Amino acid sequence: MNYNTSLRYAGLDRPREAGLSVMETAERLRRLAYFERRLMLLLATRIVTIPERDVKVLLARLQYEHAQHVDGWRGRVLELRTNKSKLEGAPEPALAVLFDEAEHLPGAYTFLFAVTQVLEPALRAAYDAYLADANGLADYASVRLVRQASADAAEHARLLAQALNELARDDGDVAHAAEWETVLRAHLAATGGVNGTLPRGESPSRQASTQPYVIPHTLVRDTAIPHVWDYQAPPLEDVDRHLDYMMGLRLSEINVAEGLAIVLYETPDMPWSFYLDISRHLWDEMRHSLFGEAGIEATYGNHTAIPMRDYEGVFAMEAPPLEQYAVLGLEVEGKNMKYPPGKRQEWEFARDMAHHPLMANFQDFDWADEVVHVNIARRQLDGWFDGGLKTISDFSARGKEHRTEVKRRQSPTAIAHPQPRTGTQG
Ligand SMILES: [Fe+2]
Ligand SMILES: [Fe+2]
Repeated sequence: MNYNTSLRYAGLDRPREAGLSVMETAERLRRLAYFERRLMLLLATRIVTIPERDVKVLLARLQYEHAQHVDGWRGRVLELRTNKSKLEGAPEPALAVLFDEAEHLPGAYTFLFAVTQVLEPALRAAYDAYLADANGLADYASVRLVRQASADAAEHARLLAQALNELARDDGDVAHAAEWETVLRAHLAATGGVNGTLPRGESPSRQASTQPYVIPHTLVRDTAIPHVWDYQAPPLEDVDRHLDYMMGLRLSEINVAEGLAIVLYETPDMPWSFYLDISRHLWDEMRHSLFGEAGIEATYGNHTAIPMRDYEGVFAMEAPPLEQYAVLGLEVEGKNMKYPPGKRQEWEFARDMAHHPLMANFQDFDWADEVVHVNIARRQLDGWFDGGLKTISDFSARGKEHRTEVKRRQSPTAIAHPQPRTGTQG
């Protein structure tokens, strides 16, 4: 039987064009890997310093999705007869200077403007050029990854534009944004764009980045959601109040996410797997904060009905990255695996006592995430702590004492029970 079809080559693009060679492919992917790794770190710095919660949350998601892309590029480069050492360090100095400078972007508006108008579009243009230049048959594996990254990038562009549009700005911010756009475009031109294939401009000298960027360790928040230092913990039997408390605990996990952003940025020279793990851990904790937000909004029709607590954030700003991570992974998350109480009890409470299907499902996934986190923490701390996991317990116990000392600086507050439960949950 004659089978006539317009479908050829499994739908792959440009199968009859020579396209990029293995060497050219490896070089482009290496540059994408470096660019997105620096972008991930850049976004992480502003999770700490930008006050607007909705922006922090978006940046946490974006840094994770960029880390996922980096992991794809790196894996693919290693399949292209390229040595792993090619993946360390900057492909060329001008690309490093671009991000060294960008780290000094002043203020939320200028930062978001630069990411939305310069850095993310440059990346998207590099993806587009890749798809236009590669042979989809020869280089199937990279092209598939680029198409997926490109879909993420289209969504990033839409979300960033929305965030930028709604962010407060004054004339000074707008002027700064325009100045910085010119500077960053010049640095991008000096490196031939993300792919390095565009005509190169003059290399501008460093302006802001004569000193390395340092994240200010200050807890910065908008005023939409009220704050307390810490909560009094109601007993399980006081079901409505305990549910409020549990949702507040989830909401307050933004503190952990901000702390992990510091861990990610301030721990240099680790193997890639460290950044991949911490990036994921960071985004999970921000998602857990959103579990609280969504639970509160579904229950009370208002996502600001329950305050969040601050003391963990203050600890995260004070503790060095290794101490903070050891306390989180071993003292907090590790202990949450014990039942009762632990993560399993939280899930059972939401399901069987509060009869709150949404929070029960969130706690179910929260528990699953925490199992992953404990494993991540044990794996990473074993390599990071001198002497490995076997010898870390005194160090992490001292860190826990530091956290307890911070907690005791102010007395806990009873959460005022919002009335009534207007949502459809429960
Ligand atoms: Fe969490
Ligand atoms: Fe966690």
